[in-house]
Amino acid sequence: MEDLFLEEQHIAIRNAAREFAKKEIQPKAKEIDETGRFPTELVKELGNMGFMGMYVPEEYGGAGLDTLSYILALEEVCAGCASTGVIMSVNNSLVCSPLLKFGSEEQKKKYLVPLAQGKKLGCFALSEPGNGSDAAALRTTAKKDGDFYILNGTKNFITNGKEAETCILFATMDPAKGHKGVSAFIVERGFAGYSVGKLEDKLGITGSSTAQLHLDNVKVPAANLLGKEGEGFKIAMNTLDGGRIGIAAQALGIAVAALEAAKNFVRERQAFGNPIAKLQGIQWTVADMSTRLHAAKLLTYRAARKRDTGERYTQEAAMAKLYASEMCMWLTTKAIQLHGGYGYCKEYPVERHFRDAKITEIYEGTSEIQRIVIGSIELSD
Ligand code: CAA
Repeated sequence: MEDLFLEEQHIAIRNAAREFAKKEIQPKAKEIDETGRFPTELVKELGNMGFMGMYVPEEYGGAGLDTLSYILALEEVCAGCASTGVIMSVNNSLVCSPLLKFGSEEQKKKYLVPLAQGKKLGCFALSEPGNGSDAAALRTTAKKDGDFYILNGTKNFITNGKEAETCILFATMDPAKGHKGVSAFIVERGFAGYSVGKLEDKLGITGSSTAQLHLDNVKVPAANLLGKEGEGFKIAMNTLDGGRIGIAAQALGIAVAALEAAKNFVRERQAFGNPIAKLQGIQWTVADMSTRLHAAKLLTYRAARKRDTGERYTQEAAMAKLYASEMCMWLTTKAIQLHGGYGYCKEYPVERHFRDAKITEIYEGTSEIQRIVIGSIELSD
């Protein structure tokens, strides 16, 4: 179906990603989930394939592709393993993207190139123990001191936080100014006073790290301010618009894998003298699963296309993320139901898909936040 909307280069990228995901990623997904290990070798290979900086121009170490190519590749990687997919997604959407859009030439050469080449890994630190959805209420502080900013505070739930060498980090220079007090910084893991704290033990995407980061009088060179002072909140929001399409693609990938597993199961499983795929109730469920999945694909590909026009795509991204993540949670629940008792057991992959699905309704803006974004744009004059 979706081939109708794709150009040759998109189909080629998707097929290359699919082949890699089926051969190399998917066979390891169960072990990665069970052990919670970071998939170092897969991330390295994604870097070699140009998948860690997909829409970064070649001159800055990226693959020079469009957003739709990235989204299609990410969907395939996530169908193989959602943990591996989110590592790729954060590096592309939340780290390379703001460096490309808001970084100085010097910052791009120093930080973007190795990140886009997959030689280094990045993370995005906005949330804190005391704030998540209310992003402007962050309390990490930045004080100007000569040629440096001194950063203090704690960041929470940071994907890739344990492994990342480069962090796009948000801090307030004046809490009284609300979102207008927030600035963005490029912080290196090696800066004195920067440390990785508690690692979360999670329901799903266990192969990706989710860490606290501590900043204890971290001296960040003034040259590492990203954008201008006070622009940080808009940089974060603009970056999350792109990130939300990535999470929609993650939800698509998980749902594709769960639907495929459910179809294989109902074709094999015998009850009342036939494979259960012959039962109309099963057919109707599979029909709804496939229809909703394809609707989510269209919303997601539309948002990716809109991003490449250069026009604002905030609403399209929020709709894609909202619909795809809720579809994914619903579809993975149905996939377990179609498996009956087997679906509840770790021997079958749908149990993992169900656990991995849940986070897509939470990170990079919960479903409730997406509804606020969509509704406020819909009702604006
Ligand atoms: N692009 C550019 N600018 C934007 C914007 C966007 N998408 N959204 C808002 N802005 C601008 C507004 O125009 C406004 O600008 P002015 O001051 O010039 O008028 C300014 O930002 C403030 O906007 P709001 O008044 O709408 O801001 P708000 O404080 O009410 O917050 C919100 C809005 C939508 C609730 C926002 O806080 C939000 O998105 N919250 C969710 C945060 C989130 O997604 N966190 C995810 C953490 S990262 C993560 O999960 C990563 C990971 O590790 C996987």
